[in-house]
Amino acid sequence: MKKTFLAACMALLAFGGSALAENFPSHPITMVVPFSAGGPTDAMARILSDRMKTKLGQPILIENVTGAAGSLGVGRVVRAAPDGYTISIGHLGTHVANGAIYKLGYDLVADLEPVVLLPSNPMIIVSTNAIPAKSLKELIAWLKARPTPPTAGTAGAGSGSHIAGLYFEKATGIKLQYVPYRGTAPALTDLVAGQIDLMIDQTSNSIAQVRAGTIRAYAVTDDKRVESASDIPTTDEAGLSGFHMTLWSGLWVPKGTPKDIVAKINAAAVEAMNDPAVRKKFEDMGLQMPPQDQLSAEALGAWQKAEIAKWWPMIKAADVKVD
Ligand code: MLT
Repeated sequence: MKKTFLAACMALLAFGGSALAENFPSHPITMVVPFSAGGPTDAMARILSDRMKTKLGQPILIENVTGAAGSLGVGRVVRAAPDGYTISIGHLGTHVANGAIYKLGYDLVADLEPVVLLPSNPMIIVSTNAIPAKSLKELIAWLKARPTPPTAGTAGAGSGSHIAGLYFEKATGIKLQYVPYRGTAPALTDLVAGQIDLMIDQTSNSIAQVRAGTIRAYAVTDDKRVESASDIPTTDEAGLSGFHMTLWSGLWVPKGTPKDIVAKINAAAVEAMNDPAVRKKFEDMGLQMPPQDQLSAEALGAWQKAEIAKWWPMIKAADVKVD
């Protein structure tokens, strides 16, 4: 008796799921950006969602839910209905690092369904023009000579810019004084104004200010130069060998979202990323497109788990204090 009842339920769910998927989307979708408007994650979300609406036939509305290095915005999606109408955009910080730092009240793997891997970008070491250093070696020497810890802007403990800072401290022995913001957009504004000393930011966020000459760049944290910023050396070339960090991003939906709906959102994102106009925009920002064979929902799930295994030990060892 119990067996037939369960089978009936599963059939209903499967039927319900596919009926749901058939009509998906029938109204606008929300993409939750867990950082400030105008920042790198927000910029990626807006370019992507603008093109995804073509395939989905419904607009994607951007909602910026900031705070706690993006963990509040991700929580908003975890608690949303598993119907595909609420999408989480995030990255190494929000969907890996935060799990090693915060008591999130949700599980980054068990409570979210991976949808698709998005572009990534190497971090870039930048400072205010007030610092009299012209190379990475000079910057490190200048920072080491400082009587007080230099101030570094981040998007909060656990954010990409903070994890990069922890990694920089470990690689150089320099102690940084972190200044948290609700995103790297406002942090960059203060760097340009000379309110903070440096950032290890996403290239896509800082590159325009570097080109405008309002801040100084020292290196990108990769073993190859960024095509659209080929005048900036790699950390290997600039004397900090092996200091590599690339911030990858992705899309997730609440756990329990029907597979066919996940597949529809995935297909729209893949189509958007393969659009030459979108690719050009992303590459001009210094972003690197994900490999074509890594665009399945399963690929993001496997990558996220691998990154958790890689980064959590370093992050936990850093014993990051959050209020
Ligand atoms: C942002 O969009 O502000 C960034 O992704 C924040 C970060 O550094 O993680």
